[in-house]
Amino acid sequence: MWTKSPARPGAGRRDISSGVRVILFGGTGMVGQGVLRECLLDPEVTQVLSVARSSTGQKHEKLRELLHKDFTNFSAVQGELTGYDACFFCLGVSSAGMNEADYTRVTYDYTLAAAKVLAKMKPPMTFIYVSGAGTDSSEKGRSMWARVKGRTENALLALPFKAKFMFRPGIIQPMHGIQSRTKWYRAFYAVATPLFPVLDSLFPHAITTTERVGRAMLVAARRGSNKTVLENADINALAAGR
Ligand SMILES: NC(=O)c1ccc[n+]([C@@H]2O[C@H](COP(=O)([O-])OP(=O)(O)OC[C@H]3O[C@@H](n4cnc5c(N)ncnc54)[C@H](OP(=O)(O)O)[C@@H]3O)[C@@H](O)[C@H]2O)c1
Repeated sequence: MWTKSPARPGAGRRDISSGVRVILFGGTGMVGQGVLRECLLDPEVTQVLSVARSSTGQKHEKLRELLHKDFTNFSAVQGELTGYDACFFCLGVSSAGMNEADYTRVTYDYTLAAAKVLAKMKPPMTFIYVSGAGTDSSEKGRSMWARVKGRTENALLALPFKAKFMFRPGIIQPMHGIQSRTKWYRAFYAVATPLFPVLDSLFPHAITTTERVGRAMLVAARRGSNKTVLENADINALAAGR
């Protein structure tokens, strides 16, 4: 369960029939939980559809959960994915201990299977993908994960979405009690968390947070961004409304 914080300013001021409707992938994970929290707190977001293999564990009037098992095929649930303004794709795995074929299946195949269906939807939607700092757009470098993420980004950029943004965060500080699903990330955060405030003040572009990633996605979905590929500094600036 997330820790509590005050409702966002403006809550309840807007006619919800004209709001933003979001599809969220990876809503059970660290990044996705952060994004989900910001969506639920944002008065302009009227609907969130979480597509995942298990429940996010959250209950909210704006949240609907679509439990799905086969992430290589969305044809059976296509009808449920129509009528949304944006997709925030936070599903992903660490490449640690994975071979290229298995990492490609989750990273490339799952993402493209969903994106190809969503790219056909009316009205056209904005697609935001979370890759990572160091992603290799050339697809030819030595780092396996970076090549696969690069190939995934390039394939997404070729799809006919209304807009598409590739978020490449580096270090992300989990906020509000959110935890990673990945064991070694949790171990890293247990050690690093006390250092984050110091690092953030010394190197403001080195770190982002789950909260800023979520807010930046919402800003990008609403008003766009002058950059297609966003690193930590860009994510932080967008989240701050700059
Ligand atoms: N955490 C960071 O500091 C960081 C930094 C830069 C980039 N990223 C990127 O951000 C993305 C999300 O990372 P995260 O930290 O949120 O990871 P996480 O906490 O491990 O969560 C991963 C999410 O992906 C889903 N997922 C994983 N494997 C799946 C599968 N085989 N089938 C269906 N769903 C699957 C998980 O669903 P289940 O709950 O069902 O397992 C969960 O919702 C990744 O692409 C990662 O590379 C993370």
